[in-house]
Amino acid sequence: MSMDEGKRMEDDLELKLPELLMSEAVQSLHAIVDHQWDSLQHSACQTAAGRALWNHVIHDPVAEILAGKSFLRSLYEKMKMDKLNNAHEVSGVILAVRTLWFDSKLEAAIDSFGDGESQVVLLGAGMDARAYRLSCLKESSVYEVDFAEVLQIKAALLHEVTQSPKHRHIEIKAKALVRVPADISDGDWIEKLKRSGFVPERKTIWVLEGILYYLHHLHAMQVLQSIAANCSVTQTVLLADFMNKSSAALSTSTFHFYNDWPDHLLPTLGFSSVKLSQIGDPDARFGLLPDPQNLFDKLRSLPRSIQTNPEDGTPCRRLYLVEASGFPNQTIS
Ligand SMILES: C[S@@+](CC[C@H](N)C(=O)[O-])C[C@H]1O[C@@H](n2cnc3c(N)ncnc32)[C@H](O)[C@@H]1O
Repeated sequence: MSMDEGKRMEDDLELKLPELLMSEAVQSLHAIVDHQWDSLQHSACQTAAGRALWNHVIHDPVAEILAGKSFLRSLYEKMKMDKLNNAHEVSGVILAVRTLWFDSKLEAAIDSFGDGESQVVLLGAGMDARAYRLSCLKESSVYEVDFAEVLQIKAALLHEVTQSPKHRHIEIKAKALVRVPADISDGDWIEKLKRSGFVPERKTIWVLEGILYYLHHLHAMQVLQSIAANCSVTQTVLLADFMNKSSAALSTSTFHFYNDWPDHLLPTLGFSSVKLSQIGDPDARFGLLPDPQNLFDKLRSLPRSIQTNPEDGTPCRRLYLVEASGFPNQTIS
C-alpha cells in the first residue's frame, strides 16, 4: 500500500464513509463524475458534500452517496483545518444556512398555497435531494432541471441507494418526481419543462439555489424573465440566491452573473413582494453563526452599497437570499 493510499484510508475511517460508497457500481459512477464532468457539473457534488458534512443540521439521507468520496474528503479536510485554526466560520456554513433558508421558505410557500396540487421546479437541480427529504412536498410534483449527464448519474446513484438493503427505507417523499434534461441557457428549456408535464397555470415554487451566478448575465436575465412571463396567472413564488459583484469576482472563470440590488431588479421584471435576506439575518442564521466576530454579522453592519470593508480593506462578499412573488397581489406568509 502506498503512503497516499494509507493516508486516504485513515481519512476514510475518520470520515466514516458509508459502505455503499465503496461498492463497485457506485465507484464506477463516481469515476465518471471525477473524470468526465466539468467544474460546473462538479459544483453539484460539492453542494451535496456540504449537506452531507453538515448533517447535524441538515437531514439528507442520500447526500454522501450523491457527493462521492473525493468531494467529501476535500471539504472534510477544509472543515478540519478551520476547526483546528479556530476560524470564525467553518467551511460549508454558507451552504448550510442557504440550504436551511430554502427549505424553510419552500415549506412556508407550500403552506401559503393552501390545499391543492402544486409544482416545485428546481432549476440547476444538481444533487439536490429535496424530493427525497422534505415531507412538505407530499402534494407537490417536483421537476428537476439540469444537464442530461448530471440527471443520469444522479438517477443511477439513487437507484443504487434504493436497491441496497441498508437504504431501502429511503423513498421519494414528493408526490411525483420528474427529471427534465435541459440547458437553461438555451431558449427552449421552458418548452421542455412543459412537455414534461409542467403546467404554468398551476401554483408553482421556483427554486433557483446556487445556479444564477453560474450563468452569463444575458442567460440569467432570460431565465428570470421566462419565469415571470410564464407565471403571472397563478400563485407563484420565486426563491433564489444572488451573488453581489465582490462575490462573483472571487472566480471570474466560474461566476458570471451578479447583482448588488436584486430587490430592485426583480420588480422591473414583473415580480412583486420581494423580500431580501443576508446570511446572518434572523431568518438566515439557524444558530450556525455563534462566533461574535463572524464575517456575516460584520457585513450586515455595513451599508450594502459598500464593496470594500473600510476597517480592513477586504471585499464585501455577500450572498443575497431572495423570495418574491410572480403574481401581482400575492403575499407570502
Ligand atoms: C452549485 S450546483 C447547485 C445544485 C442544486 N441547486 C443544489 O442546491 O443542490 C449548480 C448546478 O447547476 C447546474 N447548471 C449550471 N448551469 C446550468 C445550465 N445552463 N443548465 C442546466 N443546469 C445548469 C449544474 O450542472 C449544477 O448541477
